[in-house]
Amino acid sequence: MRYRFSLRGRGDLTEWRDAARAFLMAGIVPHIIEWRTMDDADGLFGFDENHLPPPHPGCEPLSVSPAFMRLAQAVLCHSDPTRFALLYRMLFRMMHGGVVHGRHLLQMATDPDVVAASRLAKSVGRDYHKMTAFVRFKELPLTEGFAGRRRFVSWFEPDHFIIARVAPFFQRRFTDMDWVIATPKGSASWDGETLRTTDEPAEKPDLRDETDELWRTYYASIFNPARLKVKMMTTEMPKKYWKNLPEAELIPGLIANAEANVIDMARKAASEPLPFHHRIKEAAAKAPAEPMAAAGTLAALKQEARHCTRCDIHCLATQTVFGDGPPDARVMFVGEQPGDQEDLAGKPFVGPAGKLFNDVIGEVGIDRRSLYITNAVKHFKYEPRGKRRIHQKPNMGEVRQCRWWLTQELELVRPKLVVAMGATALFALTDMRQKLEDVRGEPIAMQDGRTLFVTVHPSYLLRIPDEGRKAEELARFRQDMNRIKRLAA
Ligand code: URA
Repeated sequence: MRYRFSLRGRGDLTEWRDAARAFLMAGIVPHIIEWRTMDDADGLFGFDENHLPPPHPGCEPLSVSPAFMRLAQAVLCHSDPTRFALLYRMLFRMMHGGVVHGRHLLQMATDPDVVAASRLAKSVGRDYHKMTAFVRFKELPLTEGFAGRRRFVSWFEPDHFIIARVAPFFQRRFTDMDWVIATPKGSASWDGETLRTTDEPAEKPDLRDETDELWRTYYASIFNPARLKVKMMTTEMPKKYWKNLPEAELIPGLIANAEANVIDMARKAASEPLPFHHRIKEAAAKAPAEPMAAAGTLAALKQEARHCTRCDIHCLATQTVFGDGPPDARVMFVGEQPGDQEDLAGKPFVGPAGKLFNDVIGEVGIDRRSLYITNAVKHFKYEPRGKRRIHQKPNMGEVRQCRWWLTQELELVRPKLVVAMGATALFALTDMRQKLEDVRGEPIAMQDGRTLFVTVHPSYLLRIPDEGRKAEELARFRQDMNRIKRLAA
């Protein structure tokens, strides 16, 4: 004898539980029951098949663990047609399978039935969460003269029969408004007093309103292209939900422009200097006035340069980085502009480029203390990027403005030999925009009787990516320093 039993099969625990209890109390083995739903082809006409067998004489009423009932409640919401048979098989095994394979079945995580049931329950859980995240309400216009609560409608397409399960969540979340959530697997509604659910399939309402625009604006504002991971995004927000999400229209465009937007964001990123920059700047501004240096001296020029506003770079920089060294040095080195570390320390060539410079001159036997070291531009020009300050080359206008200081340094220090390190220094000293290689490495007589020597900037050496080439260029730089040493002597 075989049994055939039809259920509505829309997530209701009680209909399956009542039938399962009757089969179990009659001792009916799982494999002779065919479980069907009303949606099966002839299911609707199958109710007369639903004869339940009488209980086996002497059969005790059953007690089933709450853990199994919780699992069954979730599994029954799944749309998999095998769920009823699976649960009945598990129930039967728990009742008849003895201590190990029976009562403790749920603890056997590798048992194929337990695995299958957990998989179905998890998938129902995922559907529940997607629904809580992707339901979008649209407001219904208020009837004229009606001053009641605002009313909202939403359409969602869940994979499983979860409407009764998820409805209390929406009741808690949207308690102040009246709403209906319609789905092809049933609907729920709330009117401020009663939460109603039905498992009858609903038709998709034709609704578009200005709340769509609100969702789009909201989504575009929270979309962070820098965090975009398309694969993860489509896992979190699977494409099947997009058609009912007003903001989904934006997604392809946002993805396509993500790279450009990231670059733009980086460009506009937080441009606040670090707090200690402010502190240093304020301390420099509040520094007790030094005794005025004698007019016409290098010290007086340095004091004056502290307040330089000849170009806009001073606005960003922490302080003026003036030349440093003996006021009667025979050799003056000119770089481009202070870098990040020089800007904070207030001294030229103390950062990475300065370290390389120190190393090389040290190797060839030049004493840095004998040199006057300065820059074509006396303020650090940079672009803020988050917490970093990215070096920016000064433009010709800025170099020309700042030449005013360099010219006076030259007049006051009167070096015999002036070394231009890099193209900016060469331009500042000569107004020449020549290729460095054309003038590098040979002394050049200047009109004022001084000698000019041109070499590369140490930062250039730091930027060479290829180690072999870097070593070659360093050797050439060392040669230049040797030459300078001989010229200075
Ligand atoms: N680069 C320069 O040109 N000058 C400095 O002081 C530091 C780095």
